[in-house]
Amino acid sequence: SAAEKGGYDWFMRKEIYEQPQAVSDTLLGRFDADRQLTLDEIRIAPAELRSIDKIVIVACGTAYYAGLVAKYAIEHWTRVPCEVEIASEFRYRDPIITPRTLVVTISQSGETADTLMAVRHAREQGAKVIAICNTNGSTIPRESDAVIYTHAGPEIGVASTKGFLTQVTACYLLGLYLAQVRGTKFGDEIATIMAELETMPAKIQQVLDGTEDLHALARELHQVPSVLFLGRHVGYPVALEGALKLKEIAYLHAEGFPAGELKHGPIALVEEGIPVFVVVPPQGRDQLHDKVISNIQEVRARGARTIVLVEEGDAEVEPYADKLIRLPKASTLLQPLLATVPLQIFACEVATLLGHDVDQPRNLAKSVTVE
Ligand code: G6P
Repeated sequence: SAAEKGGYDWFMRKEIYEQPQAVSDTLLGRFDADRQLTLDEIRIAPAELRSIDKIVIVACGTAYYAGLVAKYAIEHWTRVPCEVEIASEFRYRDPIITPRTLVVTISQSGETADTLMAVRHAREQGAKVIAICNTNGSTIPRESDAVIYTHAGPEIGVASTKGFLTQVTACYLLGLYLAQVRGTKFGDEIATIMAELETMPAKIQQVLDGTEDLHALARELHQVPSVLFLGRHVGYPVALEGALKLKEIAYLHAEGFPAGELKHGPIALVEEGIPVFVVVPPQGRDQLHDKVISNIQEVRARGARTIVLVEEGDAEVEPYADKLIRLPKASTLLQPLLATVPLQIFACEVATLLGHDVDQPRNLAKSVTVE
């Protein structure tokens, strides 16, 4: 009923708007007065966490994309090699897992069969397993060595939204915690990143408050045959997630690519009028910003209609953007918490205009409990 949906037309839309709270709840109580991260749930001895020589993140669907974001942050903060793998591929390829491997699973439901099988396989090889999960007492956390719960509250819409943002948040907490335990980042640096993380709910709210334009954009674009999404660094998994949302609920063909890979194939798909969403990294980092702007010029020169997600105050991209979506300022690693949100809203809007059941898309289940 409308009441259950808090006055929104869809659970998905309600859940998109709950994201500031969900992220805030996921951060709550995890950074104490002594400015130490306290993940009490991680009942793995610090000595054991210090001996880890590899991290493998395993998940499906949107949770897998959260894992792709996590890899950038975890490797940067901990200097421990981190792989990310689709759960259904993981155990069938004889993965190299030892007692010094930390396996991290990400699952909103905690019941996804592919992910559960990966947990079992990893533990059989003697690895420690930490579950990032949104569902108390579900199977995956019960079968793991430790769990970090996301506090998103129940997610009803089949397409994950607040699940994703809180998974990314929990991954940042895990990365910072490992950095703290292993001594690769110290009190002040961790406190600085935590302070920025704590500003994110208000910035997500700011993104949500400025979505009128996205409705108009959805009206313009809802009948196109195909949409492309480009990003680099953590913007790449954001692009993948933006494309997945459109596939899942709008049944619209969409692909996400690393922007730097365009020239190796995907640019051949660019034709007159095709919408291309591009996530621009914040200015001043490793020239990535400028490289993405060149990519925008390249697709636009071939007729693409560019929809550019860029931080406020960045004027460089304006001449090449048919449509600008402004994001509050954030450091590169945390930008996915902001950049994903307009893409969720866009997909929700397109699916609504096309008359689809946004909460119960065809052929999909919220939790896939068979392999
Ligand atoms: C299903 C859902 C997706 C979800 C994936 C993983 O395919 O439709 O939205 O991302 O499962 O679910 P999990 O509960 O493991 O995060």
